[in-house]
Amino acid sequence: MRVHVAQHPLVAHKLTVLRDRTTPSPTFRALVDELVTLLAYEATRQIAVRETAIVTPVCPTVGMTIASPRPLVVPVLRAGLGMLDGMARLLPTAEVGFLGMRRDEETLEAVTYAHRLPDDLSGRQCFLLDPMLATGGTLVAAVDYLLARGARDVTAICLLATPEGLSAVERSVGARADVTVVVAAVDEGLDENAYIVPGLGDAGDRLYGVVGDLAPDRSL
Ligand code: URA
Repeated sequence: MRVHVAQHPLVAHKLTVLRDRTTPSPTFRALVDELVTLLAYEATRQIAVRETAIVTPVCPTVGMTIASPRPLVVPVLRAGLGMLDGMARLLPTAEVGFLGMRRDEETLEAVTYAHRLPDDLSGRQCFLLDPMLATGGTLVAAVDYLLARGARDVTAICLLATPEGLSAVERSVGARADVTVVVAAVDEGLDENAYIVPGLGDAGDRLYGVVGDLAPDRSL
């Protein structure tokens, strides 16, 4: 598994404003959007392209365009949805699938409650969007889901990760697939409630506000 931490002063600046507890929801959403576009630039370095003949106003030439099958972008609901526009801006021709995951409060395992994805993902480059790689449970389950459908090339774009979350994903994936995690920063670790420290709080709540009885489940 490869981990790429974006090293750019603009990423650091936007992330700092994002972390600030006084940053209001509209600003938070806008910053997530901008950060994802910057991370997507890193995450798509290995995107498959093919030679394409075109004619410029001056002469014929051969350029590169995104190859088929089209890449698949998969936001993990709920918070991953806040990352979709930023990703789609850079990859407007990508197909979009959806995965809804929540934590079972008894087993603490991530369970899939919604999915809308092509059945066969073999040969597809898949981009998972999940802002907080905390314990790794959700991302492990999301990657497993894609691998079970035949994907072998998966890039996860996260805003923040923890060392233990990254290790959990690495242990789970092993040699089964080519997995890359692109992240704006790797934080210190987790607190006793499995929040990332220093983190930015509950990403879903900060994007969309607290939603009744879904609020305690931070994996949404
Ligand atoms: N999910 C979040 O939204 N925040 C955390 O700190 C951990 C998981």
